[in-house]
Amino acid sequence: MIKISPSILTADFMNLSGAVRALEDAGADFLHFDVMDGVFVPNLSIGFPVLASVHAGTRLPLDVHLMLIDPRPYLERFAQYAERITVHLESQGDPAQTLRRIRALGCRAGLTIKPATPAQAVFPYLDDADMVLIMSVEPGFGGQAYLPQATDKLAAVRAERDRRGLSLDLEVDGGINLETAPLACGAGADILVAGSQLFSAPDMAAALRELRAAAGRGM
Ligand code: DX5
Ligand code: ZN
Repeated sequence: MIKISPSILTADFMNLSGAVRALEDAGADFLHFDVMDGVFVPNLSIGFPVLASVHAGTRLPLDVHLMLIDPRPYLERFAQYAERITVHLESQGDPAQTLRRIRALGCRAGLTIKPATPAQAVFPYLDDADMVLIMSVEPGFGGQAYLPQATDKLAAVRAERDRRGLSLDLEVDGGINLETAPLACGAGADILVAGSQLFSAPDMAAALRELRAAAGRGM
């Protein structure tokens, strides 16, 4: 069963509560929350004040994606709100230690890689991870086009997961729409992040249902 984790990065923040309510009603499985520090990626996004408000105002589990040069000083605070915290392999710190710290804080631990990093780079850390996120765009901005090499990377992680018998969620983030969702799901993605596809739709709830149906066709 495919899960959908809508990214609120492209939300109209004057109407965030309405958007979150619509996503809940449409059956979203998570809310994807993108945190950027302006150093790891060339953009700034949202942080603790918004995260605290969203956490207080939704029953959906929060899927927090940290695009930070060094996430370690902030993990404890994110863990107050997040169901899962995903860190970049390319960020500072030993990934195994960071993932173990996230688990020790009571969250599921995700590891993600930028488009230029090969899928095999996550293999040494899979025992310490609950999720691998394959970035299908350069992190930093919503609304970009899906990079086709993400499909092969998803397939590579899925094959390794199955070979080792691991229970590991496989998430994909960036450029997910009705055309790319079936590709990603066919390659093994089980959680789809979708931002602009949902937030640009006239009826976000209908768009989420269509995306789920398209993903199902790729399975
Ligand atoms: C990009 C973020 C994504 C982004 C996805 O750095 O990690 O979560 O918001 O947006 P779309 O679905 O528009 O590509
Ligand atoms: Zn993201």
